[in-house]
Amino acid sequence: MDIVILYGTTEGQTRKIAETVAAQLRDLGHGVRLIDTADKRTAPDLSGADRVILAAPVHERRHPEAFEITLTAAKDALAARPTLMLSVSLKAAFPEGQEEAEDYLIEMKMRTGLDPSAEMLVAGAVRPGSYDYFQSQIVRHVALNGQDVALSDGVQEFTDWPALAERVEAFVQS
Ligand SMILES: Cc1cc2nc3c(=O)[nH]c(=O)nc-3n(C[C@H](O)[C@H](O)[C@H](O)COP(=O)(O)O)c2cc1C
Repeated sequence: MDIVILYGTTEGQTRKIAETVAAQLRDLGHGVRLIDTADKRTAPDLSGADRVILAAPVHERRHPEAFEITLTAAKDALAARPTLMLSVSLKAAFPEGQEEAEDYLIEMKMRTGLDPSAEMLVAGAVRPGSYDYFQSQIVRHVALNGQDVALSDGVQEFTDWPALAERVEAFVQS
């Protein structure tokens, strides 16, 4: 099967997720093309793709603008094949954040018209070394509000890799 992974990232965790999923799918014998939406303003070439996996992080309640623009531009091609949307956020890491994590995805789908065949809320990571003062305030007081996570502890990854691998495998087998 030929699979395209279309992703956006800001600090790198979603790229790591996209590359990990790509390695998993290649190990299963699939052909995989990774496309970073960072510089895209036009529809990516999805011809020949049997399935598409979409992955993007949430920053200040939204997925990256370039990712959303790409989704809108590729709306018809995406609607024509099975798609799995992976929405990466810190709210997804905690039970009490699930509802808000779901809201980010609902709002993104309303803006772009994306109607994925499957979706997953994926917990991201904290990377304090790449934050400026403003960003660290947002991570501390918005994304991690009420959670016992100290930015002074350095990089902390919340992504549940086995659950992600299981979801991806179920998607390609469906
Ligand atoms: C400035 C900033 C704002 C963020 N805003 C949110 C947010 O509104 N909600 C949330 O759940 N996570 C938020 N996060 C956490 C990111 O979604 C998380 O760190 C994710 O792993 C980033 O993925 P990336 O490394 O691919 O960019 C924010 C992170 C930063 C640095």
